[in-house]
Amino acid sequence: MTRRIISTNARTHTVAVEPRGILLEVNEGESVMAAAERSGYHWPTLCHGDGTCSICWVEVTVGGEHLSAATDAELATLNLLSPRLRQSREVRLACQLRVTGDAVVRKPGVRPVAEEETPSVNASVAE
Ligand code: FES
Repeated sequence: MTRRIISTNARTHTVAVEPRGILLEVNEGESVMAAAERSGYHWPTLCHGDGTCSICWVEVTVGGEHLSAATDAELATLNLLSPRLRQSREVRLACQLRVTGDAVVRKPGVRPVAEEETPSVNASVAE
């Protein structure tokens, strides 16, 4: 008889990052951006998760009911973005966003860190 061990303390949720179709397993209490970095992805940022630059913003397209509530500090940083952007879609900071269920977000620029380390063809020919 085969026994399967299932962990009951590690709760994770899947967050899909479009347009690349990246699937992240996000631990309960972990930010979406932290989960991406732990999984080997670069996430656009200037403040590296301090919640002050607004560069990490994402559009939440599915699973809005599974998001942590935005803090006053997150709302203040989101106010740095254009009002038109914020009014037309659900926008959150990936470095502050926690999920309690599966979700889909849109964030161009998220890519495997390995892609950053690969020299481009033009760079090697430029010398
Ligand atoms: S990484 Fe700067 S606000 Fe999120």
